[in-house]
Amino acid sequence: MHEELSTLLGYPLKIGKKIMKKRLAFAPMTMLGNVAFRELLASFGGYGLLFSEMCSAKRLPTENPKASGYFRWREEEKSHLVFQIFGSEPYTMASAAQRIENEGFFGVDINFGCSANSICRQNCGAAILKDPNLAVKIISSVKKAVSFPLFVKFRTGWKDDPMIPVTLAKRFEDAGADALTFHPRVSPDRRARLPKWKYIGLVKNAVTIPVFGNGNIFDAKDCLTMMKTTGCDGVAIGRLAVAKPWIFAEFADRFRPDTEIYLNSALKLTELIEKHYDHHMGLRRFKKFALYFSGNFHFGNTLYKRINNAGSLDEIREIVKDFFKIPDTPYLRPNMNFLV
Ligand SMILES: Cc1cc2nc3c(=O)[nH]c(=O)nc-3n(C[C@H](O)[C@H](O)[C@H](O)COP(=O)(O)O)c2cc1C
Repeated sequence: MHEELSTLLGYPLKIGKKIMKKRLAFAPMTMLGNVAFRELLASFGGYGLLFSEMCSAKRLPTENPKASGYFRWREEEKSHLVFQIFGSEPYTMASAAQRIENEGFFGVDINFGCSANSICRQNCGAAILKDPNLAVKIISSVKKAVSFPLFVKFRTGWKDDPMIPVTLAKRFEDAGADALTFHPRVSPDRRARLPKWKYIGLVKNAVTIPVFGNGNIFDAKDCLTMMKTTGCDGVAIGRLAVAKPWIFAEFADRFRPDTEIYLNSALKLTELIEKHYDHHMGLRRFKKFALYFSGNFHFGNTLYKRINNAGSLDEIREIVKDFFKIPDTPYLRPNMNFLV
């Protein structure tokens, strides 16, 4: 199975005028897809693209990478980094996309998938799917403003009807999207029910541009099954990659992790966070990571609670070292809902 999966993932994929070398992407994740965590992912490799956490299109044109928590990057990652933006005004979204293109990234991703209240209340993210004409206007306005790849991430919509995402996907392609990432869940379902992978196949068949399937990939078998049953061109992985930052290398390059990898990765992340962030920003980001990382372990609950109460990264290092003194065989499929 692993050989078949790594072969499938190793075929390059054309997106707009650019090539993605491998068919796995790190899904956009607020507070988690930060520059420090991406550097940890880069130490293992195996992915074709990394998506940033979402950035407000209103703020982005004037955002200062030296002060911003989310609009930060390393020069080495620009060629395979896609910045995600959210917003509700076509002109603002186009200006933000221009900045992203000018900085030299692989592409821009439009967020029509986030169903968090704070975003939907501003009529952004998945809320825009209630007004498909506005969604299309945003895509065509961004398309006119840039020439690099334009991605759109969206979900089923607000009603469980597969024809809704199928129709949206066609309209998004016609408006100029170069690739789609589709998460087959309705809003505001969030992650309470299983995503309907069958809908990914329907979306894939409705368009000619590449489609990335997304939602509940927890092991290699899931990834292979999603690709084979839906025909999707690639897979975007979120929570599993936070829990196991080496997962792209495991799937695509047949990397075999050793038992030390959990301890070493957590410690390495504390260092990378110190390299890129101040105390306050860094602590918040490590605590968010810990929520998913702890899902690997039977006693993850204890680990997470201790980290969450810590006041510094030094303290976190001691907690992590202490936790791994007593072996806790990690789950093969991490428990992503243990505290959520
Ligand atoms: C903590 C967290 C933050 C997220 N942030 C974003 C985001 O900024 N933009 C976005 O489009 N999706 C976001 N998502 C959704 C993920 O990209 C993805 O669609 C979802 O987690 C399902 O994929 P998974 O099962 O592989 O985790 C977020 C999800 C989580 C759990």
